[in-house]
This record gives sequence, structure tokens and C-alpha cells, in this order.
Amino acid sequence: MAKKIVAGNWKMNKNLQEGIELAQGLKDALAADKPNCEVIICTPFIHLAKVSDLLDHKTIKLGAENCADKASGAYTGEVSAEMVKSTGAEYVILGHSERREYYNETPAILKEKVDLALANGLKVIFCIGESLKQREANEQEAVCKAELEGSVFHLSAEQFANIVIAYEPIWAIGTGKTATAEQAEEIHSYIRSVIAKKYGDKVAADTSILYGGSCKASNAPELFAKPDIDGGLIGGASLKVADFKGIIDAWK
Ligand code: PGA
Repeated sequence: MAKKIVAGNWKMNKNLQEGIELAQGLKDALAADKPNCEVIICTPFIHLAKVSDLLDHKTIKLGAENCADKASGAYTGEVSAEMVKSTGAEYVILGHSERREYYNETPAILKEKVDLALANGLKVIFCIGESLKQREANEQEAVCKAELEGSVFHLSAEQFANIVIAYEPIWAIGTGKTATAEQAEEIHSYIRSVIAKKYGDKVAADTSILYGGSCKASNAPELFAKPDIDGGLIGGASLKVADFKGIIDAWK
């Protein structure tokens, strides 16, 4: 059975003090009312060490939003997978559409990042999903399959156990436009079938496939009720304790 997960992606929001306040607020809320799923917060690099110190890692796991495609050395401004891991983080988001689009992260670059993350003991939340144009051309399945083949299907089944997939239709990210639960389930079930073809039914059943894109407390219960939706990757609604907690509670 795939693990149920609600993961937050803070993106480029919150200064250090605000981030600590948010993490502390979430910690307090979940200490008072235990979650029924794995909860992860993925923060900007600068928050990781301090937030790691304050969290109870049994209840809230920590992740980064990116890591470098090089192991170490003269790459000014970059942060390696090893550095991320040394903060106490357990996860890293890779392949987010914003990084593919605005920072020209190609499948080959993402493959390097995935390999370095796994080699340094991080788990990867790997994002895939089509643009509006691709959805209108009914290319969503081909896009998702190609993104998996391009950056994670070279892994062994053993390595693939450390990959969480996040299906995030680009047209639904930050737009307030959510995929319907039926639309999401259709592609989630397709993604699981592609994983099954590559790694077998057991690995596919054990892989958590998260939905992302304007997920909020009001639509999470319907999305999470679908058999192939194992949780959510949450942007905007992860920036306030009450909003994020509302989504976590959808698993209750
Ligand atoms: P959103 O972002 O929830 O703000 O749509 C999701 C994401 O990009 O991970």
C-alpha cells in the first residue's frame, strides 16, 4: 500500500523568522491533533537547518525544494544534495514545472539531480504534469510518461522505492483551477499503470502518487477519496497553518 502524504511546497515565500513561525505553528497544531498521514514541509534552503532543529521529525518531515546537479565544488550559489541532507532534511522536490520552465531544467539535468539526491540518502518528490496546451491536445499521458522515462525510469526498483510522484497539471498550479477529482484519478491511474509496466504491480501499488495544483481544504477530501490519489503537494495553501492543517485533516 502506498503511504498517504500531504507535503507543503513553500516556494519562494517567507523570510527566516516567518518560516520558523509557520513551522512552529504547524508543529503545535499537529502535536495537539495527530495527523493520519505523513506530513512533509519543503522549505527554501535558508530555513532548513533551523526548522529541522525545531521539528519533531516523527510527525513532520522536512524537505528542500531543489538541489544541485553537481556533487560539490566551484558552483557559486548552488546547494548540493549532501548539504541538504546534512540539515536533517529527508526529502527534496525535483522536476517542479517552475524549475523546468524558468530555470531550464531538462530531463538530463533532473536525472543528475535525482541520482545525487538518492546517493545522499534523500527521498525525491518528483513532479510531472502537462501544460494547458498539452492538455487541450490530449497529450497529458504522453507528457507524464516521457517525464518519468527521462529522469527516473533508469533507477533500479530498489532505488525507485525512494521516489514519490507528484502529478501537477501546470494549468492548475496557483491558478485556483483544480483538476476535477475524476480528471486527476484518470491520469493517476495511468501513471500507476506505467510504473507497473516498468517495475511490476507491487512497486506500483507501493508508490505514493500525490496530486498538486490549487489543492485546498475544500477540495482535498474529494481528491483524496480516489483510489490512485495518495495525497497532495500543496503550494499556496501550505503557507498558513489553518489552511494546511485543513488539507491534512482530509485524511481523517
Ligand atoms: P499550488 O501549487 O497549490 O499553489 O497550486 C502547487 C505546487 O506547485 O506544488
